[in-house]
Amino acid sequence: MTETDAVLDLQFRLTEVFPSRWRDAIARVPRHAFLPSRFWLEDGGGPVPVDRAEEPQRWLALSYADRPIVTQLDDGEDSGRGYITSSASQPSIVGEMLEASSLAAGDRVLEIDTGTGWNAALSAARVGAENVVTVEIDKGLAEQARQALAAQGWAVEVVTGDGTFGWPAGAPYDRVLSTAAVQRVPVAWVEQTRPGGRILTPWGTTFHNGVLAELTVHGDGTAAGTFGGNTAFMWVRDQRRPYAVVEEHAFASSTTRLHPYEPIGDFDASFGIGLGLRTGVSSVLVFDDDQEGNPFYTVYLLAPESGSWASWRIEPGLREFPVRQHGPRRLFDEMEAAYSWWKRLGSPAYTRFGLTVTAQGQQVWLDAPDQLVASLVRL
Ligand SMILES: C[S@@+](CC[C@H](N)C(=O)[O-])C[C@H]1O[C@@H](n2cnc3c(N)ncnc32)[C@H](O)[C@@H]1O
Repeated sequence: MTETDAVLDLQFRLTEVFPSRWRDAIARVPRHAFLPSRFWLEDGGGPVPVDRAEEPQRWLALSYADRPIVTQLDDGEDSGRGYITSSASQPSIVGEMLEASSLAAGDRVLEIDTGTGWNAALSAARVGAENVVTVEIDKGLAEQARQALAAQGWAVEVVTGDGTFGWPAGAPYDRVLSTAAVQRVPVAWVEQTRPGGRILTPWGTTFHNGVLAELTVHGDGTAAGTFGGNTAFMWVRDQRRPYAVVEEHAFASSTTRLHPYEPIGDFDASFGIGLGLRTGVSSVLVFDDDQEGNPFYTVYLLAPESGSWASWRIEPGLREFPVRQHGPRRLFDEMEAAYSWWKRLGSPAYTRFGLTVTAQGQQVWLDAPDQLVASLVRL
């Protein structure tokens, strides 16, 4: 099979994870043409490189797999930390977001977070390239996307800049589509969208990343809407979480009968806890088998800004789990309190919450915009 035939075949298979209305666009925008010759796969143990020159067939097949492809580490610097700073999003999630955007021919689109440019090209296939502006904060990535889009014949405007300010020169837009997650929806996006237009962005709290916020902009300069979709994306640059280092000393010890399956494994609970919790707390799961191969794991709750952490170790067979807490914030206690708060609300599904954005900031509500439940605090 020639490479052209292989691409056609892979592209055809990729259309199957896309909503039917978008299959034509997929067929017109070959994903591999937007990917760098070296990318990485995230397998839970850190990013693993795949080089086109060394493994051309695997590289091509992975380019069309329904999985996210890591396209940049550490902002393109050689720090060796392995922090994922850009990726080509998972195709089925891209499809879900595009479907939710209900784009029509001629709509003006502001895409935030260009990355590879693949998503911008897909939008262009629907609305016309002249109607798409995309903003990427990383200069090198913006240039790569510019070149890939031009090479594929998509005359999309690629702006190098901070997309949280939008791009006023191209406003007003019918849609603002963000492909990085925010904890706070920038007011600039509301200001640059025409009344009746919509903003779609992955949204979350430091504790829970995330869901898709689907907001409609109103004539009074506010935007409101509900949450749908299970879409975890990387945070926009100024809302990223800082690195946390846990040195297990000087902690308070206790035990709990609460298993993480309930507050963290349950999507609705975890979303609700994120809303109830004072911001700044994230969680990480670290697996650690014993010598017989029994799966132990520890959930870490982290709030690096205050130097606080909590660990919660799960050992099979135990009914009480040891908890350690360090620092000025008692993160396990805070998490438990937020979990109780969410249960007192009646354990609502995340789809019952909504968001209003005004010039003063954003507020979360339950069932109706006048039933405010939380005011998110910025640390
Ligand atoms: C998940 S990737 C976007 C995927 C992309 N839509 C695609 O099709 O490949 C997120 C991108 O957002 C960029 N980014 C992060 N913060 C940004 C900001 N404030 N403004 C613009 N781009 C930003 C990152 O550099 C990264 O390339």
